[in-house]
Amino acid sequence: MSATYRAMLCRRVGSPETLELAILPRRPLLPSEVRIAVRAAGVNFPDLLQVAGKYQHKPPLPFVPGFEAAGEIIELAADVPGWKTGDAVLLRGTAAYAEEMVAPASALRPKPADWSWDEAAAFPVAASTAWVALLPRGRLQAGETLLVLGAGGGTGLAAVSLGADCGARVVAVASSPEKRAAAQAAGADICLDPAVSGWDQAVQADLVFDPVGGVLFATAWKALRPGGRWLVIGFAGGTIPNLPANRLLLKEAELIGVRAGEQGRRNPAAAQALDAGLRGWLAGSASVGRERRRPLIGAVYRLDEAAAALRQLADRKAVGKLVLHTR
Ligand SMILES: NC(=O)c1ccc[n+]([C@@H]2O[C@H](COP(=O)([O-])OP(=O)(O)OC[C@H]3O[C@@H](n4cnc5c(N)ncnc54)[C@H](OP(=O)(O)O)[C@@H]3O)[C@@H](O)[C@H]2O)c1
Repeated sequence: MSATYRAMLCRRVGSPETLELAILPRRPLLPSEVRIAVRAAGVNFPDLLQVAGKYQHKPPLPFVPGFEAAGEIIELAADVPGWKTGDAVLLRGTAAYAEEMVAPASALRPKPADWSWDEAAAFPVAASTAWVALLPRGRLQAGETLLVLGAGGGTGLAAVSLGADCGARVVAVASSPEKRAAAQAAGADICLDPAVSGWDQAVQADLVFDPVGGVLFATAWKALRPGGRWLVIGFAGGTIPNLPANRLLLKEAELIGVRAGEQGRRNPAAAQALDAGLRGWLAGSASVGRERRRPLIGAVYRLDEAAAALRQLADRKAVGKLVLHTR
């Protein structure tokens, strides 16, 4: 094994173009850790925020971005049970924009044999966000109407897919015909264009999944039924909405914050429930639902093209997930 590997390094925060290809030395594994030869790394909106220095977690500089990947185990600490070199895995972790990454063995899940490396790499962040949001936080029930904003993006498509599997009536809002077609293929019952005025009047949502915020918030709020629940996922639209508390009172609505990555860190029982939920999602049945659960890959980039991938996200042009081929 080579003692070095290639990675995209953020030496100073700023635009995606500040990322540089670098050769990094390997570090020895600590107990409970594994080394993965990364085949593909998922690209997420939080990567963009972290490189810009705007994410809630700010790693010390320099750092390698990337929160998810798929690849093969190439080394294990002596105390790691249940895995062996050559096993194909997917994981949520850090420093995934690289030919190799190190992670705790507890983060690994087996890669579904019939999924590509790209699909496996694109799964963990969006799926765990959708699962935590819709189920433990949002308490989604079969038969409820779920409104998904940003429904053609990474977390949005995962929410559409999971919501449909849960038996909800899914209304997807997305800005382009390509994004709306993707949402429909993922299981949406109705797809709406937010640029068409009055779109909100056709919806009385029990639960809203909102990764967008921004200017869409004010209109979408009107689509929430009295007594409904609103999931605050993120602010891809660029601004954080202000909601006067009397609006909650008038609708008897619930505003629910979601931090999918934090759930497990704070609460071991929540971590176990999330793990079981994602394993169930991955195992699925051989039905239409299982096909819907596959992440849609909108585009693939080389590792050294990471800035272009992040630029596509920032420009709102990604349909589904983007991935980097790391070798
Ligand atoms: N809370 C959590 O645990 C958690 C976990 C993961 C991600 N997030 C957050 O969720 C948000 C979305 O992440 P994602 O992975 O779904 O991103 P994504 O794939 O880029 O999708 C975001 C969607 O937002 C919409 N959008 C509206 N204005 C935009 C703008 N100015 N720039 C970019 N997109 C815009 C776009 O849909 P239209 O074109 O259809 O409007 C886009 O498809 C981010 O803020 C991210 O940080 C939160």
